[in-house]
Amino acid sequence: MNKMRGNAMTSETEALTLIKEKDYGTPAVHALNNKTVTLEIDGREVTVPEGTSIMRAAADLGIMVPKLCATDHLDPFGSCRLCLVEIEGRRGTPASCTTPVAPGIKVTTQNDRLAKIRKGVMELYISDHPLDCLTCAANGDCELQDMAGAVGLREVRYGYEGSNHVFARQNGEKNDMWQPKDLSNPYFQFEPSKCIVCSRCVRACEEVQGTFALTIDGRGFASHVSAGMDEDFLKSECVSCGACVQACPTATLIEKSVVEHGQPEHSVVTTCAYCGVGCSFKTEMQGERVVRMVPYKDGGANEGHSCVKGRFAFGYATHKDRVLNPMIREKITDPWREVTWDEAIAYAADRLKAVQAKYGKGSIGGITSSRTTNEEVYVVQRMIRAAFGNNNVDTCARVCHSPTGYGLKQTFGESAGTQDFKSVDKSDVIMVVGANPTDAHPVFGSRMKKRLR
Ligand code: SF4
Ligand code: SF4
Ligand code: SF4
Ligand code: FES
Repeated sequence: MNKMRGNAMTSETEALTLIKEKDYGTPAVHALNNKTVTLEIDGREVTVPEGTSIMRAAADLGIMVPKLCATDHLDPFGSCRLCLVEIEGRRGTPASCTTPVAPGIKVTTQNDRLAKIRKGVMELYISDHPLDCLTCAANGDCELQDMAGAVGLREVRYGYEGSNHVFARQNGEKNDMWQPKDLSNPYFQFEPSKCIVCSRCVRACEEVQGTFALTIDGRGFASHVSAGMDEDFLKSECVSCGACVQACPTATLIEKSVVEHGQPEHSVVTTCAYCGVGCSFKTEMQGERVVRMVPYKDGGANEGHSCVKGRFAFGYATHKDRVLNPMIREKITDPWREVTWDEAIAYAADRLKAVQAKYGKGSIGGITSSRTTNEEVYVVQRMIRAAFGNNNVDTCARVCHSPTGYGLKQTFGESAGTQDFKSVDKSDVIMVVGANPTDAHPVFGSRMKKRLR
C-alpha cells in the first residue's frame, strides 16, 4: 500500500532507512578536453579526470581518507591535516584534499606513520572539545566523533581543558575565551565551545550561498567563527539558508529541531513546493515527525543547497490545519464532512457527470497551478481528456509565462527553457528582466552569484 508523506510517496513494505549520501571530500572535476589521469592508490589503479584531488580519487576506489575540513560541496582548504598521505618519491606527507592527482604516482593512504600523525592531530582537537558526546544533539551524526573512532584515538596526552570549551578551569578560574551559545536564529543554534575552526561554515556561506555573513576572527587559540561584525546570527547579514549548518562537521551549528527531538531515523526524498526552482530534499523523520529537511545532493535543481523556506519552513507538513482526509459538503454553508476516498471520488464523479449531462461535454475543464509537480499536471490533463472527453486543460504557468514562452519560441525555436540551472555556471552574460532571483528563486540566485564572483 502506498502512503503520502509530505509530497513523497513511499511503500509501506519499503524498508525505512536514513539515506546517507557519500561524501567524496572534494568537488567533482570536469577536465578540459576530458583529459584523464591514471595513478595507483594503496596498490590499486584508478583513472580520474585531470585536476581531481587524491582524496576524491581514493573515494572513487572506496578508500575513505580521514578528513575534517573537506567536504565535496566546498573547494578544498587543507587546514585540518588529517587527510595526509604518502606519495612514493615525494618528500613529506601532503594533504590529499589539496593535492591533485598526477600520472603514474603511487599513493599510500594508510600506514603506521600516517596513523600516528592523524592520531596526534585528533588528540589536539579533542583536547579543546567538550566531552559530552552522550548528551550532545549530534551524537551519532558527528564527523569529529567518527574521525576519533577512525584514527583509533584512546587517550589525550594534553588533558581536556583546552582553550575555548570550558566555562571555568578546574581551579575555578573563569575562562575568558569561553563564549555562550547563540540561540538568536529561530532555526539553528551556534555553540562556539564545540567549534574546531575548520571554516566549513564560512566557506559554505561564501561559496554555496554567496552571502558572506561569516568569517574567522582572531588568531591562534583566539580564532573563532564570527557572524557579521562579531554579533549574533540574527543581527548579522545571515539569511538563514542553513548551508553553514549542513556543512558543520560537529554540533556547533545544528538545527534546533534536532536539538529538541533528537536524531532522525528514516528519510524520504521529496520536492520543495515553495517555488519554481523545485529543490530536492531528504525529509528526515522519526516516525511521522519531520525532524529536519536536508537538501539532496542528487537533486538536479539544487545539488545539495536550499533556501530558508525549503529547509526550515516545514511546519506545514504536520500542522494541525493540514487536510489529511477527503472532505465533502453539499452546500457552501454546510460544515465539511470527512469521508473515505471511495465516497469522495464517487461524489465528485457524480456531480461532474451531472454538470456535463446538463451543460454539455465542453462544460468541464481543468487548470493546474505552476506550483504542482509535472506528475500532477500530467494526471490532471489525463483526467480531463480521458474521463471528460475534451481538451479543456491548461496551467497557470502558461498564462503568466506566455510572454516568456513567446519570446523563447521566436528566438530559440522552443518555448520551454532551453537550458538547465547548472548551465549558468558557464554563462558569460546573464540578463535578468523583471525578476529578483535572490528573493523569489533563492537557490538559483545563489548559483548566479557564484558565477558572478
Ligand atoms: S545560514 Fe546561510 S546565510 Fe546564514 S550564515 Fe549560514 S550559510 Fe550564511
Ligand atoms: S562552526 Fe562548525 S563548520 Fe564552522 S568552523 Fe566551527 S566546526 Fe567548522
Ligand atoms: S529555492 Fe527555496 S523555496 Fe525554491 S524550491 Fe528551493 S528550497 Fe524551495
Ligand atoms: S581534509 Fe585535508 S586538510 Fe582537512
